[in-house]
Amino acid sequence: MLSSSAAVYIEMLSLKHPKTCDIIELNQFWLRDHCRCAKCFNKQTNQRLYNLIELPADVEAVKHSWSPNDQLEVQWSDGHTSTYDVDFVYKSQVAELISRRSLISASGLTPWNRSIVLQNEQHLRFPLVPLFANEENVKQLVAALVRYGIVFIDEVEPTPLMTELALRRVFPLMKTFFGEMWTFSDKQDHADAAYSKLYLGSHTDNTYFCDAAGLQALHCIEHAGTGGENFFVDGLHVVRELQRRYPAAYELLCRVNVPAEYIEEGQHHRHTAPIIRIDPLTGELLQLRLNFYDRAVFNTLPQREMSQFYASVRQLQQIVREQEQQWFLKLQPGSIVIFDNWRVLHGRNAYTGRRTMSGAYVQRTDFQSKARVLGIIE
Ligand SMILES: [Fe+2]
Ligand SMILES: [Zn+2]
Repeated sequence: MLSSSAAVYIEMLSLKHPKTCDIIELNQFWLRDHCRCAKCFNKQTNQRLYNLIELPADVEAVKHSWSPNDQLEVQWSDGHTSTYDVDFVYKSQVAELISRRSLISASGLTPWNRSIVLQNEQHLRFPLVPLFANEENVKQLVAALVRYGIVFIDEVEPTPLMTELALRRVFPLMKTFFGEMWTFSDKQDHADAAYSKLYLGSHTDNTYFCDAAGLQALHCIEHAGTGGENFFVDGLHVVRELQRRYPAAYELLCRVNVPAEYIEEGQHHRHTAPIIRIDPLTGELLQLRLNFYDRAVFNTLPQREMSQFYASVRQLQQIVREQEQQWFLKLQPGSIVIFDNWRVLHGRNAYTGRRTMSGAYVQRTDFQSKARVLGIIE
């Protein structure tokens, strides 16, 4: 017996493009659901004006034809009439999306190791004053951030206030329990190893948040002492290397859920997801979620599968730690580094003396929204 939610079978509608003669098969409900007439779609708000359950489940095209200016006209069995732009219909298909995305990842991203990033360093540096003077400079900064996952704003007065003004020129800041802007030194203001003088191996931040910060910004506003060099590793490059060298480890780390946790007085954050998150449509890296410090009790895998997991993590870590992957640099007062916390790993050497870092996070959605508004991503 069929349940009431069973799929209704309607024949596909076969369309032939009036110019290119490309044929696509469309689900008729999908086409009815994408009517862009004023009754169905509010062009001012870009919102649909109905709940799809209000459409008959078995709605069918009674008649369809191409108008002389290449508009698809459809008369529907529910009495509605729709007119579609041919490009809208053809560009809204999954094959189109996949080919656009693979084009972007092939030509719009530059995975890097140390020698590649050093060759491109001049594309990553943006002095503050021109950023304020010209929106085109903001666009170039965001484009470099999308391409390389790391940029610098230079010639910034080394104070928390100027750091904040510089960052807000480009992005809104993310509010967390650390605040919007945070300042850290070796004073233990939070239950986190960043608030110490210790060495910190390559990691991404916020693995314990349901939605880890999309970007992180750091500005060393003072350091009177030695050590404390930062290092950055491109997770996109590392993950591609892992897939090439150790495909079984790659597959396992894309699949196994790893819990992370943050606990301090009044806070208890926990999030569980794979170390490598992949876009299911395109197979491209969405997020590298790697932090050995913030791992919670690992109780999401049967004991007999642990050895495979640990071996895979070791293979990933082996690549991360290769000298040629690591870009070492001493952050100087005056330069803010901004990096993609879903892609680029960061760490630092132990240090001596007084060192103060000012920084902030930006939400992933705000980073992407800005890049979309500027026409950098779709
Ligand atoms: Fe960190
Ligand atoms: Zn309509």
